[in-house]
Amino acid sequence: MFKQLSIPQRLILVSTVASAAALLIASFIFLAYDRVSYRTFLIDGITTQADVVGTNSISAIVFSDPDSARATIAGLRKNPLIESASLFTADRRFFAGWSLTPQLAVRAMPNATSQITNYEFHGEELLLSRKLLLDDKPVATLVIRADFSVLNRRLKNFVMIALLIVVMSVLTAFILSSLLQRTLTRAIVNLSDTARSISRDRNFSIRATPPGSTDEIGILVDTFNEMLSAIQARDFALSSERARLRTILENAPIGILVVEAPSRQIILSNRKFEEMMGTPIRDLKEVPRYYTIMRPDRSVISPPDWPLSRALSNKEFVRGEENLVRREDRSETWVRASAAPVLDDAGKVLAAVLVLSELDDQKKAQEALLRSEKLAAAGRLAASISHEINNPLEGVINLLYIALSDETLSANTRAQLQLADQELARVSHIATQSLRFYRQSSRPTKCNVGVLLDSVLDLLVGKLRNVDVQVTRDFQTQGSLVCFEGELRQVFMNLLSNSLDAMAGRGGRLFLRVKSVSAGKRRGLQVAVADTGQGIDPETLSFIFEPFYTTKGNLGTGLGLWVTRDIVDKHSGSIRVRSKKGQGTVFLVFLPEDGVALPLSDSARSA
Ligand SMILES: Nc1ncnc2c1ncn2[C@@H]1O[C@H](COP(=O)(O)OP(=O)(O)OP(=O)(O)O)[C@@H](O)[C@H]1O
Ligand SMILES: [Mg+2]
Repeated sequence: MFKQLSIPQRLILVSTVASAAALLIASFIFLAYDRVSYRTFLIDGITTQADVVGTNSISAIVFSDPDSARATIAGLRKNPLIESASLFTADRRFFAGWSLTPQLAVRAMPNATSQITNYEFHGEELLLSRKLLLDDKPVATLVIRADFSVLNRRLKNFVMIALLIVVMSVLTAFILSSLLQRTLTRAIVNLSDTARSISRDRNFSIRATPPGSTDEIGILVDTFNEMLSAIQARDFALSSERARLRTILENAPIGILVVEAPSRQIILSNRKFEEMMGTPIRDLKEVPRYYTIMRPDRSVISPPDWPLSRALSNKEFVRGEENLVRREDRSETWVRASAAPVLDDAGKVLAAVLVLSELDDQKKAQEALLRSEKLAAAGRLAASISHEINNPLEGVINLLYIALSDETLSANTRAQLQLADQELARVSHIATQSLRFYRQSSRPTKCNVGVLLDSVLDLLVGKLRNVDVQVTRDFQTQGSLVCFEGELRQVFMNLLSNSLDAMAGRGGRLFLRVKSVSAGKRRGLQVAVADTGQGIDPETLSFIFEPFYTTKGNLGTGLGLWVTRDIVDKHSGSIRVRSKKGQGTVFLVFLPEDGVALPLSDSARSA
């Protein structure tokens, strides 16, 4: 109960109780002293009177004159306390006496003692015996009965007065301490109010008002304020550190998740993690289990064996495991997962951290590499087949030539043989083109860019027909250029393929132009490949030269333009693109005249 009181209330209570206790003790001692001393005073008074009256009545006893004796001791009536007085002879006989009422009379002498004065109390009555001496010998005894109820009455009055004094003093103490405690407790109350408001609002910039004194309370408030300043500084450092950490975590290019042990409650997850998981995880209480996690061989890992679960339950440090995650919407992503437990000093698991890095690009690159290797192998195969076909083909063409020179042939047979010759010429053309296309050109040669473009168009004839595209050629110059022929052919192949892809399913027009230009001091050729295809939106435009960037899903590797730019760079040229979504795209390739130097022997020959 006392503990629940406030300090001001306690102070008031303590000072009031202390003053009440002090007053009570003082009153008690005073009352006790007064009772004893007043009683002694009364007894002494009665004894003195008894002495005087007794001495005066000795002669009446000696002359056996009870009347005179009674008259003498009747003088004691003046004392209002005395109720009766009796004289007894030395042989304990009643000699004379008086009493206020017959009941109060003392007729038998109390037991004798060796003392001259003897008294005993019976309730509120005093029975006092006084031996009367003549020549030092007791000749009679005076016995007095007195009413001492006055003592109790006096006590009662005193108690009443004492109580009144105590009550008045307590009241005064209460009022005074209520007024005075404020100066003492104001600072402490202010301190406690400040502490409470800080703990409630977590605002460490508040300070307790200093009392302006140098006593213990002043020191307490100053120290408290100093502590607050220290906490505020630490709080600020902590929150800025936390903000920095949060920014780093939030923008880290890896997915991070921290869960509490053993509840698996999510403490933290960053944006990348949610991006990779495809769910706003931070709003969830627990890591959801609707994901399917697989090993590289696509075997499913059960939830207790997930990297995070192993870190939580087995304190295992999982380092860079390759996993395939299937999301709730059944889309998949390759990740490299690492997990680690967070342990306290006793080795108990407090939490676990999961770190995921994306593997999709790497996986895609591996696949693309595989595909380009396959393509290269197919190319080499096509080249060798073309080469092998060329020899027998030449033989057949020669034979046809000989057969056609026979004058005796019927018109019908001649027409059929001529048709066969034409078809074979086409086969031969295709075979030669394929051979040239796939032949590695390790040395630069002088070649006609228009002819190169035509040879690429030849290879795309079938596709052109399929997508219903009209081709417009505008070769304003027959200018030749020193270049790596095979690679330049690949540049045009990539640009034309992209254009045809952009017009697939909708048809359109393909416009090819070669013209001489001079860019500053540099002269050269500009090749324009323009289409009326779907166009590229501005956002995509900034990525199209990146390796593996494709909008064609599994149908594209995203390497075409990357390789194209690489080859153009090799020719010291430049490539630019302009496009409008839904309208079409123009690629402009500038190839400088002096971009590639002709090998010394060739230049001598050409000179
Ligand atoms: N003429 C074009 N019209 C519209 N989009 C184009 C055009 N050329 C390129 N693009 C866009 O640029 C992206 C990258 O082209 P790139 O040639 O590098 O790769 P790809 O064509 O997708 O794949 P690959 O060349 O391996 O078949 C394409 O996916 C496409 O979105
Ligand atoms: Mg392409």
